[in-house]
Amino acid sequence: VSPQPPPSAPPLHPAPCRPAAAPGHPALPSSAPHPRPPRLSASSASAPRPLGPPRSVSIRFGWPRKAKSVGRGRSVRCMAAASDAAQLKAAREDIRELLNTTHCHPILVRLGWHDSGTYDKNINDWPERGGANGSLRFDVELKHGANAGLVNALKLMQPIKDKYPSITYADLFQLASATAIEEAGGPKIPMKYGRVDVTGPEQCPPEGKLPDAGPSAPADHLRLVFYRMGLDDKEIVALSGAHTLGRSRPERSGWGKPETKYTKNGPGAPGGQSWTAEWLKFDNSYFKEIKEKRDQDLLVLPTDAALFEDPAFKVYAEKYAADEEAFFKDYAEAHAKLSSLGAKFDPAEGFSLDD
Ligand code: HEM
Repeated sequence: VSPQPPPSAPPLHPAPCRPAAAPGHPALPSSAPHPRPPRLSASSASAPRPLGPPRSVSIRFGWPRKAKSVGRGRSVRCMAAASDAAQLKAAREDIRELLNTTHCHPILVRLGWHDSGTYDKNINDWPERGGANGSLRFDVELKHGANAGLVNALKLMQPIKDKYPSITYADLFQLASATAIEEAGGPKIPMKYGRVDVTGPEQCPPEGKLPDAGPSAPADHLRLVFYRMGLDDKEIVALSGAHTLGRSRPERSGWGKPETKYTKNGPGAPGGQSWTAEWLKFDNSYFKEIKEKRDQDLLVLPTDAALFEDPAFKVYAEKYAADEEAFFKDYAEAHAKLSSLGAKFDPAEGFSLDD
Protein backbone atom coordinates (compact mmCIF):
# COMPACT_ATOMS: atom_id res chain seq x y z
CA VAL A 1 0.00 0.00 0.00
CA SER A 2 1.41 3.38 -0.82
CA PRO A 3 -0.02 5.65 1.85
CA GLN A 4 -1.45 8.96 0.85
CA PRO A 5 -2.18 11.67 3.37
CA PRO A 6 -5.83 12.09 4.24
CA PRO A 7 -7.44 14.95 2.34
CA SER A 8 -6.98 18.29 4.00
CA ALA A 9 -9.66 20.04 1.98
CA PRO A 10 -13.19 18.79 1.42
CA PRO A 11 -13.24 17.04 -1.95
CA LEU A 12 -16.42 18.05 -3.73
CA HIS A 13 -18.34 15.12 -5.04
CA PRO A 14 -18.96 15.68 -8.73
CA ALA A 15 -22.66 15.83 -9.39
CA PRO A 16 -23.84 16.36 -12.94
CA CYS A 17 -27.15 17.91 -12.01
CA ARG A 18 -28.02 19.31 -8.63
CA PRO A 19 -31.64 20.23 -7.99
CA ALA A 20 -30.76 22.89 -5.45
CA ALA A 21 -27.84 24.38 -3.64
CA ALA A 22 -26.78 22.24 -0.72
CA PRO A 23 -24.34 23.29 1.99
CA GLY A 24 -20.92 23.11 0.40
CA HIS A 25 -22.38 22.59 -3.07
CA PRO A 26 -22.97 25.86 -4.88
CA ALA A 27 -25.89 25.89 -7.29
CA LEU A 28 -24.89 25.75 -10.93
CA PRO A 29 -25.69 28.80 -13.00
CA SER A 30 -28.43 27.77 -15.40
CA SER A 31 -26.23 28.51 -18.41
CA ALA A 32 -23.32 26.43 -17.15
CA PRO A 33 -22.60 23.18 -18.93
CA HIS A 34 -22.97 20.12 -16.75
CA PRO A 35 -19.59 19.29 -15.25
CA ARG A 36 -18.49 15.81 -16.15
CA PRO A 37 -16.75 13.70 -13.56
CA PRO A 38 -13.17 12.86 -14.49
CA ARG A 39 -12.76 9.86 -16.75
CA LEU A 40 -11.14 6.90 -15.12
CA SER A 41 -7.62 6.03 -16.12
CA ALA A 42 -7.57 3.59 -19.03
CA SER A 43 -4.34 2.17 -17.66
CA SER A 44 -6.02 1.04 -14.48
CA ALA A 45 -5.41 -2.69 -14.51
CA SER A 46 -8.29 -3.79 -12.33
CA ALA A 47 -10.99 -1.64 -13.91
CA PRO A 48 -12.82 -4.15 -16.07
CA ARG A 49 -14.71 -1.63 -18.17
CA PRO A 50 -14.77 2.10 -18.70
CA LEU A 51 -17.21 3.80 -16.36
CA GLY A 52 -19.24 6.72 -17.52
CA PRO A 53 -20.60 9.67 -15.60
CA PRO A 54 -23.43 9.16 -13.11
CA ARG A 55 -26.10 10.09 -15.64
CA SER A 56 -25.53 6.85 -17.54
CA VAL A 57 -26.27 4.43 -14.71
CA SER A 58 -29.34 2.30 -14.83
CA ILE A 59 -30.49 1.94 -11.25
CA ARG A 60 -34.15 2.72 -10.90
CA PHE A 61 -34.79 3.98 -7.42
CA GLY A 62 -36.94 7.04 -7.86
CA TRP A 63 -35.35 8.12 -11.11
CA PRO A 64 -35.86 10.20 -13.14
CA ARG A 65 -36.65 12.37 -10.21
CA LYS A 66 -36.94 15.88 -11.28
CA ALA A 67 -36.60 18.03 -14.36
CA LYS A 68 -34.35 21.03 -14.06
CA SER A 69 -34.78 24.08 -16.24
CA VAL A 70 -31.71 24.94 -18.26
CA GLY A 71 -33.12 28.10 -19.83
CA ARG A 72 -35.42 29.02 -22.77
CA GLY A 73 -37.97 26.41 -21.76
CA ARG A 74 -35.64 23.44 -22.20
CA SER A 75 -35.29 20.97 -19.39
CA VAL A 76 -33.19 17.91 -18.69
CA ARG A 77 -33.83 14.91 -16.52
CA CYS A 78 -31.84 15.17 -13.32
CA MET A 79 -30.10 11.85 -12.81
CA ALA A 80 -27.81 12.75 -9.93
CA ALA A 81 -27.41 10.50 -6.91
CA ALA A 82 -24.93 10.61 -4.10
CA SER A 83 -23.00 7.66 -5.54
CA ASP A 84 -22.86 5.98 -8.92
CA ALA A 85 -24.03 2.36 -8.66
CA ALA A 86 -21.70 1.08 -11.40
CA GLN A 87 -18.71 2.68 -9.70
CA LEU A 88 -19.74 1.24 -6.33
CA LYS A 89 -19.83 -2.23 -7.88
CA ALA A 90 -16.41 -1.73 -9.46
CA ALA A 91 -15.07 -0.40 -6.15
CA ARG A 92 -16.41 -3.54 -4.46
CA GLU A 93 -14.21 -5.64 -6.76
CA ASP A 94 -11.19 -3.52 -5.83
CA ILE A 95 -12.04 -3.92 -2.13
CA ARG A 96 -12.19 -7.71 -2.57
CA GLU A 97 -8.76 -7.61 -4.20
CA LEU A 98 -7.41 -5.44 -1.37
CA LEU A 99 -8.81 -7.84 1.24
CA ASN A 100 -7.19 -10.80 -0.50
CA THR A 101 -3.79 -9.16 -0.63
CA THR A 102 -3.61 -7.25 2.68
CA HIS A 103 -6.04 -9.14 5.00
CA CYS A 104 -7.36 -5.81 6.22
CA HIS A 105 -10.91 -7.09 6.92
CA PRO A 106 -10.95 -6.08 10.61
CA ILE A 107 -9.82 -2.50 10.24
CA LEU A 108 -12.29 -1.88 7.41
CA VAL A 109 -15.12 -3.12 9.63
CA ARG A 110 -13.94 -0.81 12.42
CA LEU A 111 -13.75 2.10 9.93
CA GLY A 112 -17.40 1.69 8.90
CA TRP A 113 -18.57 1.30 12.48
CA HIS A 114 -16.69 4.36 13.72
CA ASP A 115 -18.11 6.54 10.93
CA SER A 116 -21.70 5.52 11.70
CA GLY A 117 -21.45 5.02 15.48
CA THR A 118 -21.41 8.74 16.28
CA TYR A 119 -25.14 8.97 15.54
CA ASP A 120 -27.45 10.65 18.07
CA LYS A 121 -31.13 9.87 17.49
CA ASN A 122 -32.11 12.87 19.65
CA ILE A 123 -30.72 15.33 17.10
CA ASN A 124 -32.83 15.77 13.96
CA ASP A 125 -30.58 17.86 11.74
CA TRP A 126 -28.10 16.36 9.31
CA PRO A 127 -25.13 16.33 9.72
CA GLU A 128 -25.29 17.52 13.35
CA ARG A 129 -26.85 14.17 14.29
CA GLY A 130 -23.66 12.36 13.27
CA GLY A 131 -23.66 8.92 11.68
CA ALA A 132 -22.59 7.43 8.36
CA ASN A 133 -21.68 10.60 6.51
CA GLY A 134 -17.99 10.20 5.64
CA SER A 135 -16.84 12.65 8.33
CA LEU A 136 -14.23 10.16 9.53
CA ARG A 137 -12.04 11.08 6.53
CA PHE A 138 -11.13 14.37 8.16
CA ASP A 139 -8.06 14.70 10.37
CA VAL A 140 -9.94 16.28 13.23
CA GLU A 141 -12.11 13.16 13.67
CA LEU A 142 -9.34 10.66 12.90
CA LYS A 143 -7.47 12.18 15.82
CA HIS A 144 -10.25 11.35 18.29
CA GLY A 145 -8.85 8.87 20.83
CA ALA A 146 -11.34 6.14 19.86
CA ASN A 147 -10.16 6.30 16.24
CA ALA A 148 -6.49 5.56 16.93
CA GLY A 149 -5.05 3.62 14.01
CA LEU A 150 -7.94 4.24 11.61
CA VAL A 151 -5.82 6.58 9.52
CA ASN A 152 -4.38 3.32 8.16
CA ALA A 153 -7.83 2.29 6.97
CA LEU A 154 -8.30 5.64 5.24
CA LYS A 155 -4.93 5.18 3.51
CA LEU A 156 -6.22 1.89 2.14
CA MET A 157 -9.46 3.47 0.96
CA GLN A 158 -8.11 6.67 -0.57
CA PRO A 159 -6.72 5.13 -3.81
CA ILE A 160 -10.11 3.47 -4.38
CA LYS A 161 -11.90 6.76 -3.73
CA ASP A 162 -9.55 8.47 -6.18
CA LYS A 163 -10.20 5.83 -8.81
CA TYR A 164 -13.98 6.09 -8.47
CA PRO A 165 -14.70 9.79 -7.99
CA SER A 166 -18.48 9.40 -8.27
CA ILE A 167 -18.93 7.52 -5.04
CA THR A 168 -19.07 9.11 -1.61
CA TYR A 169 -16.73 8.35 1.25
CA ALA A 170 -19.78 7.51 3.38
CA ASP A 171 -20.84 4.80 0.92
CA LEU A 172 -17.26 3.59 0.39
CA PHE A 173 -16.64 3.10 4.12
CA GLN A 174 -19.86 1.12 4.55
CA LEU A 175 -19.31 -0.85 1.34
CA ALA A 176 -15.82 -1.79 2.53
CA SER A 177 -17.08 -2.91 5.93
CA ALA A 178 -19.95 -5.03 4.59
CA THR A 179 -17.70 -6.55 1.93
CA ALA A 180 -15.09 -7.40 4.57
CA ILE A 181 -17.69 -9.22 6.70
CA GLU A 182 -18.95 -11.18 3.71
CA GLU A 183 -15.45 -12.04 2.43
CA ALA A 184 -14.43 -13.25 5.91
CA GLY A 185 -17.19 -15.84 5.74
CA GLY A 186 -19.91 -13.81 7.45
CA PRO A 187 -23.51 -13.30 6.37
CA LYS A 188 -24.63 -11.24 3.39
CA ILE A 189 -25.59 -7.82 4.69
CA PRO A 190 -28.74 -6.28 3.16
CA MET A 191 -27.06 -2.97 2.39
CA LYS A 192 -28.36 0.12 0.67
CA TYR A 193 -26.34 2.96 -0.76
CA GLY A 194 -26.61 6.63 -1.70
CA ARG A 195 -25.18 8.21 1.47
CA VAL A 196 -24.35 11.89 1.12
CA ASP A 197 -20.95 13.09 2.39
CA VAL A 198 -20.35 15.95 4.74
CA THR A 199 -18.18 18.51 3.00
CA GLY A 200 -15.88 19.92 5.66
CA PRO A 201 -14.16 19.15 8.96
CA GLU A 202 -16.42 21.61 10.76
CA GLN A 203 -19.22 19.08 10.20
CA CYS A 204 -17.44 16.35 12.16
CA PRO A 205 -19.06 15.17 15.40
CA PRO A 206 -17.55 16.13 18.75
CA GLU A 207 -15.24 13.64 20.42
CA GLY A 208 -16.65 11.12 22.90
CA LYS A 209 -19.56 9.56 20.99
CA LEU A 210 -18.11 6.04 20.68
CA PRO A 211 -18.03 3.52 23.54
CA ASP A 212 -15.16 3.09 26.00
CA ALA A 213 -13.81 -0.42 26.49
CA GLY A 214 -13.28 -0.09 30.24
CA PRO A 215 -15.96 2.07 31.87
CA SER A 216 -16.84 1.56 35.55
CA ALA A 217 -20.26 0.06 34.72
CA PRO A 218 -19.81 -1.59 31.29
CA ALA A 219 -23.40 -2.74 30.68
CA ASP A 220 -24.85 0.66 31.64
CA HIS A 221 -22.29 2.38 29.45
CA LEU A 222 -23.08 0.17 26.46
CA ARG A 223 -26.79 0.95 26.86
CA LEU A 224 -26.14 4.67 27.21
CA VAL A 225 -24.11 4.78 24.01
CA PHE A 226 -26.03 2.31 21.83
CA TYR A 227 -29.51 3.42 22.94
CA ARG A 228 -28.47 6.96 21.90
CA MET A 229 -27.94 5.47 18.43
CA GLY A 230 -31.42 3.91 18.54
CA LEU A 231 -30.07 0.36 18.94
CA ASP A 232 -31.37 -2.19 21.45
CA ASP A 233 -29.94 -4.98 23.64
CA LYS A 234 -30.11 -7.62 20.92
CA GLU A 235 -28.31 -5.33 18.48
CA ILE A 236 -25.63 -4.45 21.06
CA VAL A 237 -24.82 -8.12 21.59
CA ALA A 238 -25.00 -9.07 17.90
CA LEU A 239 -22.80 -6.16 16.81
CA SER A 240 -20.24 -6.88 19.52
CA GLY A 241 -19.80 -10.19 17.69
CA ALA A 242 -17.80 -8.27 15.07
CA HIS A 243 -14.90 -8.75 17.49
CA THR A 244 -14.70 -12.24 16.09
CA LEU A 245 -12.46 -10.36 13.62
CA GLY A 246 -9.32 -8.43 14.37
CA ARG A 247 -7.00 -7.47 17.15
CA SER A 248 -6.50 -4.82 19.77
CA ARG A 249 -3.13 -3.10 19.87
CA PRO A 250 -1.81 -1.47 23.04
CA GLU A 251 -0.11 1.26 21.04
CA ARG A 252 -3.48 2.23 19.54
CA SER A 253 -6.30 1.74 22.03
CA GLY A 254 -4.20 0.87 25.08
CA TRP A 255 -5.93 -2.53 25.26
CA GLY A 256 -4.50 -5.95 24.52
CA LYS A 257 -1.09 -7.61 24.56
CA PRO A 258 1.69 -6.52 22.19
CA GLU A 259 1.56 -9.99 20.61
CA THR A 260 0.25 -13.50 21.20
CA LYS A 261 0.75 -16.91 19.65
CA TYR A 262 -2.19 -16.08 17.37
CA THR A 263 -0.85 -12.76 16.12
CA LYS A 264 2.93 -12.90 16.15
CA ASN A 265 3.12 -13.99 12.52
CA GLY A 266 0.32 -11.86 11.08
CA PRO A 267 -1.14 -12.13 8.47
CA GLY A 268 -0.80 -8.44 7.88
CA ALA A 269 1.27 -6.45 10.37
CA PRO A 270 2.08 -8.85 13.22
CA GLY A 271 1.13 -8.19 16.83
CA GLY A 272 -1.80 -7.21 18.97
CA GLN A 273 -4.24 -9.45 20.83
CA SER A 274 -7.24 -11.01 19.13
CA TRP A 275 -10.57 -12.05 20.62
CA THR A 276 -10.51 -15.34 18.68
CA ALA A 277 -7.87 -17.76 17.41
CA GLU A 278 -8.88 -17.42 13.76
CA TRP A 279 -9.32 -13.66 13.75
CA LEU A 280 -9.79 -13.31 10.00
CA LYS A 281 -12.74 -15.69 9.98
CA PHE A 282 -16.22 -14.39 10.76
CA ASP A 283 -18.07 -16.95 12.87
CA ASN A 284 -19.57 -17.22 16.37
CA SER A 285 -16.30 -18.14 18.10
CA TYR A 286 -16.20 -14.71 19.83
CA PHE A 287 -19.19 -15.69 21.96
CA LYS A 288 -17.77 -19.13 22.73
CA GLU A 289 -14.41 -17.68 23.78
CA ILE A 290 -15.68 -14.87 26.01
CA LYS A 291 -18.06 -17.34 27.67
CA GLU A 292 -15.21 -19.71 28.50
CA LYS A 293 -12.45 -17.15 29.15
CA ARG A 294 -10.06 -20.08 29.01
CA ASP A 295 -7.21 -18.79 26.85
CA GLN A 296 -4.92 -16.05 28.22
CA ASP A 297 -3.82 -15.28 24.68
CA LEU A 298 -7.35 -14.18 23.74
CA LEU A 299 -8.75 -10.78 24.67
CA VAL A 300 -11.87 -10.09 26.72
CA LEU A 301 -12.54 -6.38 27.19
CA PRO A 302 -14.73 -5.33 30.14
CA THR A 303 -17.47 -4.49 27.61
CA ASP A 304 -17.12 -7.97 26.07
CA ALA A 305 -17.38 -9.64 29.48
CA ALA A 306 -20.54 -7.63 30.21
CA LEU A 307 -22.37 -9.56 27.51
CA PHE A 308 -22.34 -12.68 29.71
CA GLU A 309 -22.69 -10.80 33.02
CA ASP A 310 -25.73 -8.64 32.33
CA PRO A 311 -28.89 -10.81 32.49
CA ALA A 312 -30.59 -9.23 29.45
CA PHE A 313 -27.46 -9.29 27.29
CA LYS A 314 -26.70 -12.84 28.40
CA VAL A 315 -29.84 -14.25 26.79
CA TYR A 316 -28.53 -13.23 23.37
CA ALA A 317 -24.86 -14.01 24.07
CA GLU A 318 -25.75 -17.57 25.10
CA LYS A 319 -27.95 -17.97 22.05
CA TYR A 320 -25.22 -16.79 19.68
CA ALA A 321 -22.60 -19.03 21.34
CA ALA A 322 -24.85 -22.02 20.70
CA ASP A 323 -26.38 -21.10 17.35
CA GLU A 324 -24.22 -19.55 14.64
CA GLU A 325 -27.14 -19.28 12.22
CA ALA A 326 -29.10 -17.17 14.71
CA PHE A 327 -26.03 -14.97 15.20
CA PHE A 328 -25.54 -14.49 11.45
CA LYS A 329 -29.17 -13.54 10.92
CA ASP A 330 -29.25 -10.99 13.76
CA TYR A 331 -25.79 -9.68 12.92
CA ALA A 332 -26.70 -9.04 9.27
CA GLU A 333 -29.81 -7.07 10.25
CA ALA A 334 -28.02 -5.09 12.95
CA HIS A 335 -25.05 -4.32 10.70
CA ALA A 336 -27.32 -3.01 7.93
CA LYS A 337 -29.06 -0.77 10.47
CA LEU A 338 -25.75 0.44 11.92
CA SER A 339 -24.47 1.24 8.43
CA SER A 340 -27.35 3.64 7.78
CA LEU A 341 -27.48 5.47 11.10
CA GLY A 342 -27.79 9.22 10.64
CA ALA A 343 -27.19 8.92 6.90
CA LYS A 344 -28.85 11.23 4.40
CA PHE A 345 -29.62 9.22 1.27
CA ASP A 346 -29.86 10.47 -2.28
CA PRO A 347 -32.16 9.13 -3.65
CA ALA A 348 -34.01 9.35 -0.35
CA GLU A 349 -34.86 5.65 -0.23
CA GLY A 350 -31.30 4.60 -1.13
CA PHE A 351 -30.51 1.87 -3.61
CA SER A 352 -29.24 -1.68 -3.54
CA LEU A 353 -26.33 -3.08 -5.51
CA ASP A 354 -28.01 -6.44 -5.93
CA ASP A 355 -29.05 -7.26 -9.44
C1 HEM B 1 -19.49 -2.56 22.15
C2 HEM B 1 -18.63 -1.57 22.28
C3 HEM B 1 -17.28 -1.62 21.62
C4 HEM B 1 -16.10 -1.35 22.20
C5 HEM B 1 -15.90 -0.85 23.63
C6 HEM B 1 -15.06 -1.61 21.25
C7 HEM B 1 -13.71 -1.44 21.48
C8 HEM B 1 -12.71 -1.82 20.62
C9 HEM B 1 -11.31 -1.72 20.89
C10 HEM B 1 -10.67 -1.15 22.16
C11 HEM B 1 -10.62 -2.18 19.80
C12 HEM B 1 -9.11 -2.26 19.60
C13 HEM B 1 -8.64 -1.15 18.68
C14 HEM B 1 -7.15 -1.19 18.46
O1 HEM B 1 -6.39 -1.22 19.44
O2 HEM B 1 -6.71 -1.17 17.27
C15 HEM B 1 -11.62 -2.61 18.87
C16 HEM B 1 -11.33 -3.18 17.65
C17 HEM B 1 -12.28 -3.59 16.76
N1 HEM B 1 -13.64 -3.34 16.83
FE1 HEM B 1 -14.63 -2.75 18.49
N2 HEM B 1 -15.63 -2.03 20.09
C18 HEM B 1 -16.99 -2.05 20.27
C19 HEM B 1 -17.94 -2.36 19.33
C20 HEM B 1 -17.66 -2.73 18.03
C21 HEM B 1 -18.63 -2.88 17.01
C22 HEM B 1 -20.12 -2.57 17.15
C23 HEM B 1 -17.96 -3.28 15.89
C24 HEM B 1 -18.48 -3.57 14.50
C25 HEM B 1 -19.75 -3.78 14.20
C26 HEM B 1 -16.57 -3.39 16.24
C27 HEM B 1 -15.57 -3.81 15.40
C28 HEM B 1 -14.23 -3.89 15.73
C29 HEM B 1 -13.22 -4.55 14.92
C30 HEM B 1 -13.46 -5.34 13.65
C31 HEM B 1 -12.00 -4.35 15.57
C32 HEM B 1 -10.62 -4.86 15.12
C33 HEM B 1 -9.86 -3.79 14.38
C34 HEM B 1 -8.50 -4.23 13.91
O3 HEM B 1 -8.11 -5.39 14.04
O4 HEM B 1 -7.78 -3.38 13.33
N3 HEM B 1 -16.42 -3.02 17.52
N4 HEM B 1 -12.87 -2.37 19.37
